[in-house]
Amino acid sequence: MGLLLPSFAATAPPDFQREVRPILSRQCFACHGPDEHSRKANLRLDLRDSALAPAKSGKRAVVPGKPEQSELVGRITSTDHNQVMPPPETKKQLTAAEQDTLRRWVAAGADYQPHWAFTKPKQAPLPTVKQTAWPQNAIDHFILARLEKEGLKPSAPADDYTLVRRLYLDSSACRQRPRRPTRSSIPSKTAIANPRSPTSRTN
Ligand code: HEC
Repeated sequence: MGLLLPSFAATAPPDFQREVRPILSRQCFACHGPDEHSRKANLRLDLRDSALAPAKSGKRAVVPGKPEQSELVGRITSTDHNQVMPPPETKKQLTAAEQDTLRRWVAAGADYQPHWAFTKPKQAPLPTVKQTAWPQNAIDHFILARLEKEGLKPSAPADDYTLVRRLYLDSSACRQRPRRPTRSSIPSKTAIANPRSPTSRTN
């Protein structure tokens, strides 16, 4: 399974917001972004319709599903100094991984998904877990699925004393105003070593 993951990651279509947009934004928008005064070659890459339309030369930067016909892919992988994008004088350069991400994004159809904040929330299916008896609510499924993926076991439930102590520390930490520690407010070494010692509860 561990061996399969990297090849899966390399073939899955990249996520536009998380993987593609940051590359375009960092490397291309200065000259092919929303600012029309600094826009070059009449090419705007932040909007799908513009990226798909013919640019100044008449070529299309993005032909969805066809990386070999997409000028964007040709330009970012070009070894010709007069062709390569971003232009060499910017001292910017795409890494091989960034080139690959953009190529796979074009190959997968060049989707421009809107930012998640602008999409309607959709109920995600619950991940399947091995220890089906453990989860007590929907969130537990997600936690357990991740633990199982990492090969970890859930901790045993905390005892009542620990639960009350956590609650006490949470609530008192919120209410307490910071003050200079005094000799008596510094817990003794035994209190730190043994949190169940009564002296530790002064804190
Ligand atoms: C510093 C400005 C600058 C940056 C940054 C830049 N470009 Fe360009 N780009 C230009 C200029 C100027 C041209 C027109 C000259 C040419 O065709 O080489 C151009 C042309 C292009 C063209 C061809 C347009 C046509 O008319 O066919 C494509 C495709 C392109 N850029 C893609 C990109 C991509 C993708 C990035 C980011 C990875 C990028 N560019 C970054 C300045 C820039």
